[in-house]
Amino acid sequence: MQSNRLRNNPPLPKGVESPRPVNRYRVGVPNKSAATDVLTIIPVRQTRDRAELKRDFDPAVFEMILAEMHDNLFLAAEGEMRHVRTAGGRIGLVGMGKDHTERSMYRWIGACAAQMGRVTKMESVVMVRGSIAEDRWPLAAADIAEGAELGSFTFSHYKHPSKDDQKFRKLHLHFAADSAVKLFNTDLQRAAMTAAAANFARQLANHPPNVIHPESLVQICRTVAHRLHLKFRVITFAEAERLSMGGVCSVGRGSPHKPAIIILEYAPAVSRVNPPIAVVGKAVTFDTGGISIKPAADMGAMKYDKCGGMAAIGVAVAAAMLNLPQRVVCAIPTAENMPDGDAYRPGDIIRMHNGKTVDVTNTDAEGRLILADAISYICEEYKPKYLIDLATLTGGVVTALGGVYAGLMSNHDGLANELKSAGERVDEWLWRLPLHRRYRGLLDSPHADMVNSGGREAQPIQGGMFLQEFIPAEVPWAHLDIAGVAHPRRDYRYLKGDQASGFGVRLIVDFIKSR
Ligand code: BES
Ligand code: MN
Ligand code: ZN
Repeated sequence: MQSNRLRNNPPLPKGVESPRPVNRYRVGVPNKSAATDVLTIIPVRQTRDRAELKRDFDPAVFEMILAEMHDNLFLAAEGEMRHVRTAGGRIGLVGMGKDHTERSMYRWIGACAAQMGRVTKMESVVMVRGSIAEDRWPLAAADIAEGAELGSFTFSHYKHPSKDDQKFRKLHLHFAADSAVKLFNTDLQRAAMTAAAANFARQLANHPPNVIHPESLVQICRTVAHRLHLKFRVITFAEAERLSMGGVCSVGRGSPHKPAIIILEYAPAVSRVNPPIAVVGKAVTFDTGGISIKPAADMGAMKYDKCGGMAAIGVAVAAAMLNLPQRVVCAIPTAENMPDGDAYRPGDIIRMHNGKTVDVTNTDAEGRLILADAISYICEEYKPKYLIDLATLTGGVVTALGGVYAGLMSNHDGLANELKSAGERVDEWLWRLPLHRRYRGLLDSPHADMVNSGGREAQPIQGGMFLQEFIPAEVPWAHLDIAGVAHPRRDYRYLKGDQASGFGVRLIVDFIKSR
C-alpha cells in the first residue's frame, strides 16, 4: 500500500473532472411548496386507440394530451418532446413510440427528460409513470436515470464559457412512487453511477492529445485509483524493457512521452483472490501512424485512438463505485505513435513479452503490438477467468460495420454470446467475425513468427488473429474492435457526433453483473 497521501494523490489536470453523476436521482416527488418551479415529464405511448391511452392518465392530463395530439403538435413518436404550460405548472410530454426495444426507449426518455430540464432551465424534474406499465416502473426508472445521466454529458472545458454553461445546474430528478411496485433510491443511484463511469470514459477520450498523453494518463489513473481505492500499478518504459515488451517499447519510442502499461485492480473482500475478469484497453493517445504515416485529412480524430483504454478505466471506476462482488483487473497499455529519429521502423523485428517475434510491416498497425504485451503479461500474472480486450484497432471494421456494431472476435462461444446479449441490453451492439485458422496465413512472415500487418484482406480479423497468438489456449477471450463505434460521426439519442461514446463501459459492466 502506498502511504504518502499527498504524493500519491496529485490533483487531476485542469479540466479533468472526477467520475461522479452530475444529477441527483430520488424516489418521491418534491414537497408542494416548491411545486411552482417543477417540470413534470410524462411518457406517452404511441397508439391510435384513444380508449387505451385514456386508461394511462388522469382525466385532466388525458384531455391536455388529446388536445396536443388533435393539433398534431405531439404524436408520441419515440423521443418526441413537447413542452406544455398548464395552470398546474410545466409539463414535458415525451413520446414512447411503438417499435422500440423497451430498455433503449427508457434510456432515451431519460435523456429527453434531462434535455427538457436543461432547456427550460428547471432544476427539479419529476418523472411520472404515464404510459409506462406499473410492473415495469422499477426497471424503467433505473434506465431513465441512466439515460438522463448519459444525456447530461457535456464537454466544454476548452470553450469560452457560453450563457448555457453558466445557467447549467445539476438536475434533481424525482421519480413518482405511486405504483404498487416499489422503487429504491439505490437502484437509481447505481444506474446513474454506471452512466457516470461511461461519461468519465467519454470525457477522458475527448481531451486532446497535448493534454492526455501516456505520462499524464498515468498520473490521472493514479489519482482516480487513489480516490476510489483501486489498486494501482504501472509498468514503466524501463520495466517494460526489462520484461522484453518489444511491442510497447517499440510503439512508444518515437514520443517524448514514454509508454507504459497502467493496471487498475478492483479486488473486493468477497473475491480478493478469485481469478479476476481482465479488461485490456488500447490507449494510443495519438496515432500518427508513425513512420508509416497517415494522411493529413482527419488525423486529429486519432486522439480517439485511446478509447479502448478509456473504456477499461471506466470499467474499473464503475466496479469500484458499484461495489461489484467480482474481482476485476483492467490493463491499459498506453503509447503515442509518432514518427521520429528514434521511432520504430517498418522492417524492424521485435521480440514480444511472450517470446514471439514480430516482423513490423507497418508501424500504423501499432495497437495490436501494445495490446499483445499487455495481454500476455496479464494472463501470466493474474490468470484471469475471462479476458476482454477493447481497441480502436482497424479502419476495416469501420468500413464493414460502420458506427452501429462493434466487431467481436472470440475463442469461446459462451463468452461471445454472453457479451452479445449484454450488448443488446445496453445498446452497445456486437457482431461476431470469424477467426478461422486459415486466416493465420495472412500473418506469415519469412523472417519472424508473424507480421503485424498482412495487407488489405480481412483487416479486422487479422487484428484478432494477431492478438490470439498472445492468449493462452485455456483463457476464454473476446476482442472488441470498436474503431467504428468509439466516436459516432453523427448524433444518436444521448450520444453526440464527433465526441467519444464511452462504448464498452456499460457493456462490460452489464456482462460482469450478469454473471
Ligand atoms: N487506430 C487505427 C485504426 C482506426 C482507423 C481507428 C480509423 C479509427 C478510425 C489503427 O492503429 C490503424 O492505423 N490501423 C490500420 C491497420 C493497417 C495498417 C493494417 C488501418 O486500419 O488502416
Ligand atoms: Mn495505427
Ligand atoms: Zn491506432
